[in-house]
Amino acid sequence: MKNIDSYTHVRGESVYLDDIPLQAGTLFAAVYDSPVAHGKIKSLDTSEAEKAEGVVRIFTSKDIPGENQIGGIIPDEELLAGTHVHFCGMPVALVVAESDDAARAAVKRIKIEIENLPVITNPREAKEKGELIIPPRTFRLGDTDNTWKNCEYIFEGRTETNGQEHLYIETQGAYAMPQENGAIRIYSSTQGPTVVQRTAARVLNMPMNKIEVDTTRLGGGFGGKEDQATTWAVMCALASYHVKKPVKYCLHRMEDMRMTGKRHPYSSDFKIGLNKDLKILAYEATFYQNAGAAADLSPAVMERTLFHCTNSYFVPNVTATAYSCRTNLPPNTAFRGFGGPQGMFVIEAAIAKAAEQLHIPASEIQQKNLLKTGDEFPYGQIAESEANECWSKTDELYNIEQLEKDVADFNSSNKFYKKGMALMPICFGISFTKTFMNQARSLVHVYTDGSVGISTAAVEMGQGVNTKLLQVAAKIFSVAQEKIKVNSANTWRIANTSPTAASAAADLNGKATALACETILQRMKQVAADELKTSTETIEIKDEIVFITGKKTDLSWKKLAMLTHMKRISLSELAHYTAPGIHFDTSKEKGHPFAYHVYGTAVITVTIDCLRGIYEFDSVKAVHDFGQSMNTMVDMGQCEGGIVQGIGWMTMEELLYNKEGKLMTNALSTYKVPDIYSVPKEIIVHPLKTEKENLAIFNSKAVGEPPLMYGIGAYFALRNAVKAFNSSAVIPYDAPMTPEKVLMNLFSQ
Ligand code: MTE
Ligand code: HPA
Ligand code: MOS
Repeated sequence: MKNIDSYTHVRGESVYLDDIPLQAGTLFAAVYDSPVAHGKIKSLDTSEAEKAEGVVRIFTSKDIPGENQIGGIIPDEELLAGTHVHFCGMPVALVVAESDDAARAAVKRIKIEIENLPVITNPREAKEKGELIIPPRTFRLGDTDNTWKNCEYIFEGRTETNGQEHLYIETQGAYAMPQENGAIRIYSSTQGPTVVQRTAARVLNMPMNKIEVDTTRLGGGFGGKEDQATTWAVMCALASYHVKKPVKYCLHRMEDMRMTGKRHPYSSDFKIGLNKDLKILAYEATFYQNAGAAADLSPAVMERTLFHCTNSYFVPNVTATAYSCRTNLPPNTAFRGFGGPQGMFVIEAAIAKAAEQLHIPASEIQQKNLLKTGDEFPYGQIAESEANECWSKTDELYNIEQLEKDVADFNSSNKFYKKGMALMPICFGISFTKTFMNQARSLVHVYTDGSVGISTAAVEMGQGVNTKLLQVAAKIFSVAQEKIKVNSANTWRIANTSPTAASAAADLNGKATALACETILQRMKQVAADELKTSTETIEIKDEIVFITGKKTDLSWKKLAMLTHMKRISLSELAHYTAPGIHFDTSKEKGHPFAYHVYGTAVITVTIDCLRGIYEFDSVKAVHDFGQSMNTMVDMGQCEGGIVQGIGWMTMEELLYNKEGKLMTNALSTYKVPDIYSVPKEIIVHPLKTEKENLAIFNSKAVGEPPLMYGIGAYFALRNAVKAFNSSAVIPYDAPMTPEKVLMNLFSQ
């Protein structure tokens, strides 16, 4: 089945925030943001701006009726700066004007005097100075201290992974409008309508039931709108509250890049110990997460780093510690993988270092240490592993040894072009790591003409969740897809929801939808049985026709819907789903936090031009664990997109902040993302179909985030290619490996 959005997407008819028809009297907002990364506000002068043409009003922190506080996990983030600014791009004032242009012109007339304070951009420096968002956490398995003496080989090192700009095609934005009795409706390009509702209520000192948040779809979120869509939504709501008119704000690309947080950069240390058979006996890692100036989702991201610190390997002795370090960068936030990729990179670097020192391919160590069913993760969960299956299927399909030989042959016959190859196994835990967040509700209506409406909190952002929800209802009711409509996520229809995140939206909202559909179907079957004078067990509905023990009747789905209503039986159901069996005890750092894991293995091959430092990815060949995919096209799309986004993070997307904490790569002219030319020439994803029961919707495993992590292999493939040209290069484990870095390493001594 095609993605249900494709029809309106290609016709340009899909409605994004900026496509919502404007109400008469709509005003436009623009933010004045801090030009410095840390300081005390000595004076703020908005008088010139207020006089500018078209300006209606300028708001500062003093205009906030409730709390000036938008921090979700920790209350440490102001909506508008009060006395201090903590990062370049921190919102200070909000201009509301009659047009977009007038608002932005007025912003330029605002003057500020700031007494500069010391700026920290480096997480290790922040940790030294005691600037931690939360106390450090340590995950432990076995006893590393007493294992080192049993290790034949021990290697230590340091790694850096940089951040990543989300670069959703649709920038952040919101449109708020007053409703009767002081209520406010907010259209928000958010992954988390409830987060927006809760925060708006807090800032405006209003009860949540007066705030309606509605989201039809996003032009991409990638985690960047899990928490950070809230700022703009609440700003519009604040302005609308005061001026009693609709207020809209869609950020320009450079405003968005400058003011919003990104993937967390990490600086990490590792120590790995192996025995003479290359079994990893012990692994220690210390993670310094660059959280930026406020907590945002950093504590949860840090936690997922720890959960993924051993990737898809079994290591009997592990000590992993993480620090969430407060710096003067925009608060970093969720980004596809949510800290997992940062943790996985470090163990891959440790294995690569061991392999380089031992003069063997990393794949030998990787393969020997893959997780088996029954192995324990450092957090106590017992693995149901597909790691070996994925690896051996990869070998069977693509012949790893032959690929290695092809690379070696190419390298011995080419002087100025070299190839590199790497394997990248992945293991990603599915569930929000905060157990309580793994819940969802679905409201299903069957109308009297047999058409169906579904409302959940799942936000469509290109990942195809609405298509999957529609498939759930189509399958359970056995009705045509044209009969089903998936509605916008709206906090007045579905309350107290988790954001669409953690790759879990299709599972949680799909399962809730399945429950609701089953309940309605059961009632309708009872009505059919009564009408046809038979028992419900004999009733089946297939392709909109009622059957009795396999025999067609004259009763159609449509007639049955009306009949059910005439009998005064409800055709609606609100179902609640919670993922069963999950728990986690943070006092012990042990439990069973994930409903299941997703596995996979990819082989990545790259060719570098050794005179220029530029490169092309020849292929990414993967075997990916889909369980039983309910929509192969959607899932393949997720794999391809994730792989390319992961390669971008590892190889070309380079965020640079200067010492003063100013983002230098603040536009697409300086921040390079993969384009059609940098996409691997070949991407093949072979589905590993597993029959095992799992907690995924229809056994179709979550797919949103895991494939991004295949991109980590791109970094190691590039490294291997550079080594093939310059075997003495000492290459730091520092991603992204940009063409500049490739070139420097090719000719380093
Ligand atoms: N795919 C598209 N096209 N656009 C997106 O914004 N976000 C990713 C992933 N795939 C994203 C995407 C992220 S970060 C997550 S958590 C999941 O989709 C969320 O959706 P799901 O739970 O329905 O998989
Ligand atoms: N993953 C993604 N998003 C989240 C999570 C998580 O585990 N927890 C809170 N937001
Ligand atoms: Mo995805 S980073 O969990 O929004």
